[in-house]
Amino acid sequence: MITYLESARQFQLDTPRASYVLALADEGFLCHVYWGKRIAPQDLTDLMRLGEAPFVPSQNERERASFMDCAPFEYPAAGTGDYREPAFVMETPDGGRTCDLRYVSHRIYSGKYNSAVLPHTWGNGCETLEITMQDAPSGLTVRLSYTVFEGLDAVIRSAVIENETAQDVTLRRVLSASVDLDDDRFEMISLYGSWARERQMQRVPLHHGKQRIDSMRGESSHQYSPFFALVRPETTEQTGEAYGFTLIYSGNFTAQAELTQFCQTRAQIGIQPEDFAWLLQSDGCRFDVPEAVLVYSDEGLGGMSRTFHKLFTDHLIRSKYRYAERPVLINNWEATYFDFSLEKLCGIAEEAARLGIELFVLDDGWFGRRDSDNCSLGDWTPDQRKLPGGLKPLTDHITGKGMRFGLWFEPEMISPDSDLFRAHPDYAIGIEGRPRTQSRAQYVLDYSRREVRDAVWEQMKKILDSAPISYIKWDMNRQLTEVPRAELWHKYMLGVYDLMERLVTGYPDILLENCSGGGARFDAGMLYYSPQIWASDDTDAKERLRIQYGASLFMPPAAIGSHVSVCPNHATGRNTPFATRANVAMNGTFGYELNVASLSDDEKAQIPEQIARWHSISHLIREGAQYRLANPFAPSGFAAQANADYDAWMYISRDRTDALLTYVQITAEANMKSRRIKLAGLDPEMTYRFALDGTEHTKTGAYLMQCGLLIRNLWGDMTSVQIRLKATAE
Ligand code: DGJ
Repeated sequence: MITYLESARQFQLDTPRASYVLALADEGFLCHVYWGKRIAPQDLTDLMRLGEAPFVPSQNERERASFMDCAPFEYPAAGTGDYREPAFVMETPDGGRTCDLRYVSHRIYSGKYNSAVLPHTWGNGCETLEITMQDAPSGLTVRLSYTVFEGLDAVIRSAVIENETAQDVTLRRVLSASVDLDDDRFEMISLYGSWARERQMQRVPLHHGKQRIDSMRGESSHQYSPFFALVRPETTEQTGEAYGFTLIYSGNFTAQAELTQFCQTRAQIGIQPEDFAWLLQSDGCRFDVPEAVLVYSDEGLGGMSRTFHKLFTDHLIRSKYRYAERPVLINNWEATYFDFSLEKLCGIAEEAARLGIELFVLDDGWFGRRDSDNCSLGDWTPDQRKLPGGLKPLTDHITGKGMRFGLWFEPEMISPDSDLFRAHPDYAIGIEGRPRTQSRAQYVLDYSRREVRDAVWEQMKKILDSAPISYIKWDMNRQLTEVPRAELWHKYMLGVYDLMERLVTGYPDILLENCSGGGARFDAGMLYYSPQIWASDDTDAKERLRIQYGASLFMPPAAIGSHVSVCPNHATGRNTPFATRANVAMNGTFGYELNVASLSDDEKAQIPEQIARWHSISHLIREGAQYRLANPFAPSGFAAQANADYDAWMYISRDRTDALLTYVQITAEANMKSRRIKLAGLDPEMTYRFALDGTEHTKTGAYLMQCGLLIRNLWGDMTSVQIRLKATAE
């Protein structure tokens, strides 16, 4: 997969449909050569344009700065004339920030480097190119790493910074990837949003200057996701080039495209450099840079997303649940909020068990004296007023009904009104002499300190060992403020990862679902610990079409936490049919978040069928390939009819014999004909059997993809159909 062409001093990483090529310039600069559709190994170094006068340093010593300002650097540093955004900045004790990284050596090996402190991709069937670069005057070493996994059009980039010199240096900027693409014909796709409105898609042409999304909140955030794609203006869901970038990290990030004076595009992703500083001490100290994942697709956005999905499912998620059937859960949050008693919970659990729901999750409010979100975070002992006798009577009842039990924690937080805070006010992040800012009446624990993590872990362990807990929801409901030192942003994340590591290695059978006030930490870093992440506190089926579409651009659908909740919806007040709420929640993890006892008989009657259907299709969502057939962000209205007012998506098994189509009519229109939906991803040669409008049909994959299916005008908004297609020998 990785070759070195000695004559051209060129490295080529080949994946099934793509090639990524880099090369060494005369002076030892490491330059980007090519990234795109696969090309046979050959000397491509002309593409670097290094010989174009008057910018050749060897021919014209005066023009070094001009050369530096346009050469396609793979890991640009600062201070020697490249005035575009650097990937790397370090500060020497004298305050200087100049760094000149040159090639020292390389090796190509089977396997990859796995950080001991950061989430990372893993697994067999991969090869790595490691290039060691050095700044000669300071002696600082940067080991760049490029890994490719068999069968996947992705390059995983990271770096290790090593200080083997006798002086300390401060790292100011250590991005994970920087790629100098040779042209400017790109549009940038990114995901923006807010609480309960996460992952809205934006697609805009690049303009001269810098286009950036980022987070300074201590979490990857509701507002922007650590993901972007550069696509051609003509790129669609199924055709054209797409370059996708994401970060395996959950804290502050930056993601940016810079269009340069020579109409080239520098694309970068990494830890947010603003307010970042890391003291790298002398004599061998190292800093691990988070992994960035770079995906190339010439099969449009869909191809890009499917590569992310497969890579993350096969080589990032570790949970035993990544391929395994997961229990259908019911969560009591929207059913009760903080207002529950043992009796009320048992009532919900009893009805849920009767309808076939398999896991009961007790959300916020079970500990301390938490009748509202004003207190008790940090006091992880059951509230005896609500749960007399602790968790046991409840778990006995639940397991007695044949269900499993799950529990909510918010381990990173502390309420000012808590025993933990009264005993250890210094555990909360803050700055001496300044008031701390409260958010949701809580502070953030200083997870950079081991004793703080230990104090929470001891309490969590006691609870985990006291009851049959098979699922945990790990929540995080506020952002960081009054951060006393720049280093803390990253140290905090390392602390969070440390505690998650203790949880998943100490209790490997527990199904962990991450959450952050909805979807504020919906990122690839979290996937390393939890196979599913709560995507949003907005459970409205119509809004979820967009949130889940946006999330699926870079995250596997089986990781998208999605539940059926009651109507009118608690976030929007909208009413949608129960059946459609289930069909939409099946484009994710599928579960319920409501008081089943208060549902109508008709709704209750649908639940056992929905659960049975889910178990018959969930392998397709976990292991199959997703094809999005529509874009819920497309403008609606008659003129845009071809792609408006409906959504549709498919899942197809890897052998393409089994498929599932879900179609949602968002807005009904009077006197409208059926809509023709062209399927995707099927085997054109195979014949598929399926039922539509109560009639059995058989059609070839070619027919279904080229001619499509006619889905009749349904009655009412947010109505839907789900169609299973199976290959037949006929
Ligand atoms: C935010 C989460 O997203 C909700 O699902 C719920 O767990 C609340 N926190 C509880 O406080």
